[in-house]
Amino acid sequence: MILSPMPEHDVLVVGAGLAGMRAAIEAQREGADVALMSKVYPVRSHSNAAQGGINAALSEGDSWESHAYDTVKGSDYLGDQDAIEILAREAPAAIVELENFGVAFNRDEHGRLGSRFFGGAEHARTYFVGDFTGQAILHVMFEQLLKHGLTTYDEWFVTQLVKDDQGAVRGVVALDMKSGRLELFRAKAVVFATGGMGRVYEPSTNALICTGDGMALAYRAGANLLDMEMVQFHPTTLKGNGALLSEAARGEGAYLLNKDGERFMKKTAPNKMELASRDVVSRAEQVEINEGRGVDGCVLLDMRHLGAELILERLPQIRELALEFLGVDIIHEPVPVRPGMHYQMGGIKADVEGRTTLDGLFAAGECACVSVHGGNRLGANSLLETVVFGRRAGRAAAQYAKSVGAPRVSEAWLRDEERFIASLFDRPPGERAAALRLEMGQTMTRDVGVFRTGEGLESARRTIAELKERWERVSVGDKGRVFNTNLVSVLELRNMLDLAEAVVASAIFRTESRGAHARLDYPKRDDANWLVHTVCRHTAAGPELSTMPVVITRWEPEERHY
Ligand code: FUM
Repeated sequence: MILSPMPEHDVLVVGAGLAGMRAAIEAQREGADVALMSKVYPVRSHSNAAQGGINAALSEGDSWESHAYDTVKGSDYLGDQDAIEILAREAPAAIVELENFGVAFNRDEHGRLGSRFFGGAEHARTYFVGDFTGQAILHVMFEQLLKHGLTTYDEWFVTQLVKDDQGAVRGVVALDMKSGRLELFRAKAVVFATGGMGRVYEPSTNALICTGDGMALAYRAGANLLDMEMVQFHPTTLKGNGALLSEAARGEGAYLLNKDGERFMKKTAPNKMELASRDVVSRAEQVEINEGRGVDGCVLLDMRHLGAELILERLPQIRELALEFLGVDIIHEPVPVRPGMHYQMGGIKADVEGRTTLDGLFAAGECACVSVHGGNRLGANSLLETVVFGRRAGRAAAQYAKSVGAPRVSEAWLRDEERFIASLFDRPPGERAAALRLEMGQTMTRDVGVFRTGEGLESARRTIAELKERWERVSVGDKGRVFNTNLVSVLELRNMLDLAEAVVASAIFRTESRGAHARLDYPKRDDANWLVHTVCRHTAAGPELSTMPVVITRWEPEERHY
């Protein structure tokens, strides 16, 4: 896109995955002049990777209340129940809308929308397109984007949020990766839909682009982050590269086995077995592995009894993944899997309209914490969150934009960023971003993983502090300006290190076990002291932690059994 000097829009949406596209479409429907910016071409966004489906209580006998309750229980009572009620109530209409947009959901034998079971759910309420649901929805949403003629800035990397004299967010500075030029974008409202931070861990099911840029930019600009210690480990990631093998496999009836061929979930979750919530299944797997009943650091996912026909129709992608990367044909052999980093429940604190703690900044999707997932997200609630809260954030941002005057921000923001980027190019040869990134990721997986201890967390804190210090000496070896991925990786690493620090600090702060945060030194959930969100603020001295209440509307905390 060729730009006129100083581009300006009513609403600038950053991130072109499902939350961002849905927000942009809604903001435009509200009459705003909208632009969508992304560091990748929209259909390369990580929403592509969502496999198993999207939840809604649409079938006979199911109800939004049941969906909401399952979500509250899955969250280990840390989810805000007002937001969860909205998620569950608005889910059926969201699915129908997607269907009307053109998503070819699988059908049952009567020609109606067909659903499958997913973990932690009392009803089969996950609607799906094979095991590539995210990709199917993303492409249809992109068609809507084209239909609405939305302005897009593809392959632009945002480096800074910019504010007016009153401290309201009124745009961004972004790097055009194609030319290497920095530009100041003015906007009355900015919506961050920048996705997750999976690559703070190594390995992760997340795409390499999931570097938490929006979360880190908002954090450094003064926005509150919520519940950053709540990092989801998906129970079935492929041995080796950690690729996602969808929960859909277990939804269709796959077993988890230890080295003795035992379905070990019967010990932890005798009712739901492999379809307990993800935090419960991942811990059970890790116990088998730690206690010597695993198979080479993994457990086995067995789908042989499902038969070739079902696998080829409903699980073709995971068959291909196991075949390509491990040479295992799931039709004939069990495949080794282990818990792997998959999702960040925490994020930029946002209300149910996407408003953050910064005036003018809205957030939706994985980068936001509304909070509908609390301590543990149920599978197939993330695609749902993107469309429900993406729509709401887009609408609220457009309405907000009508209430404020033209964005007034100084060009000094641009000049400062130009100096900063020039200073990175000027650094002498030194540390390599890739080496630091790997050390960060491996540290996080080892010390801030499925099980945590005070000692491990303190060790992670020290390592991340050292890595932050070493980042100051990371050099940009490639001095070219055109598509300089070396420069981008240095900027991404800075973002990831800030978030790693926030995750570790929040995990040290929460001295209990809840949801995905399992501390061996504080093994019990402690509702008396910790039925609260962790609030993390950026200061020059490091993360500053405090708490805020959880919203409870109708479901009082109970012990969880599956
Ligand atoms: O297992 C999966 O298909 C992942 C779905 C999700 O995280 O929602």
